[in-house]
Amino acid sequence: MFSKRSTRTRVATETAITHLGGRALFLGAQDIQLGVNETLYDTVHVLSTMVDGIMARVGPHADIETLAKYSRVPVINALSDQFHPTQILADLLTMHELAIHPSQPDVAGTEQYSAHRMAPSKTLPGLRVAWVGDGNNIVQSMLVSMPKLGMHLSVATPPGYAVADAVLRTAEEDAKASGTELLLTHDPLEAVRGADYIVTDTWVSMGQEEEKARRLADFAGYQVTFDMAKRGGAKPGWKFMHCLPRKPEEVTDEVFYSDKSVVFQEAENRKWTIMAVLDALLVRKSYD
Ligand code: CP
Ligand code: NVA
Repeated sequence: MFSKRSTRTRVATETAITHLGGRALFLGAQDIQLGVNETLYDTVHVLSTMVDGIMARVGPHADIETLAKYSRVPVINALSDQFHPTQILADLLTMHELAIHPSQPDVAGTEQYSAHRMAPSKTLPGLRVAWVGDGNNIVQSMLVSMPKLGMHLSVATPPGYAVADAVLRTAEEDAKASGTELLLTHDPLEAVRGADYIVTDTWVSMGQEEEKARRLADFAGYQVTFDMAKRGGAKPGWKFMHCLPRKPEEVTDEVFYSDKSVVFQEAENRKWTIMAVLDALLVRKSYD
């Protein structure tokens, strides 16, 4: 059920379901009574008698919680205004692959796949990730996952665009438990210091289009550039990530299309990680 546009999440999910031998129904906002002419409660009650799982892209995160509460089948968050968990799985897989093969090999090669048997618990801890941008759904999903996995995280957001307090509390607890560093700042240069990865996203998320002019002004100085990475002191081998879709204001073409950028490997990994989620929840029925 998608109440907002999608290229990657939709196509990754539909093709992954086909590979697993299932069939996906794409239900957009114009197709079904998605909380408009019928309550979410009634919708999910009916749908979950007919399907094995629901992938839902919603506006308010409370909608995902409502769906999950009343569904009889697994509900997967395909993006809400607070979180985008399947995106971060793809980012983590990409970091894992690059830790094994820094030169971005053709991962379809069987030789590379055998190397992937190394556990992510060995490749991810200790990585230093810098976020430069909005305190949005993407960085909030990074905050509830990366410190837990032993990764250092620095987050630079402009004043007024901070992450939610509850998310920050979770990140702080996780960072403390795993002994990692967590930094929140308004200074992009401070955030990128020593970074293995510099990550950003659009400054104008879906549903915020009317705030565009104000946001572009407020995010001045936050565009990811080679100069930012150099002056801030990112590691020599730093890489750039972005969930896409990308606009030029948040990162220059020079960085986005450079050999530092792993955005297309990251985008492809949406498919393999979503396939793994579907396999776990719908095929193996393992909910841990
Ligand atoms: N990254 C991402 O979720 O892209 P889509 O909005 O195209 O699904
Ligand atoms: N923050 C963006 C992510 C898009 C995948 C949005 O919510 O629109």
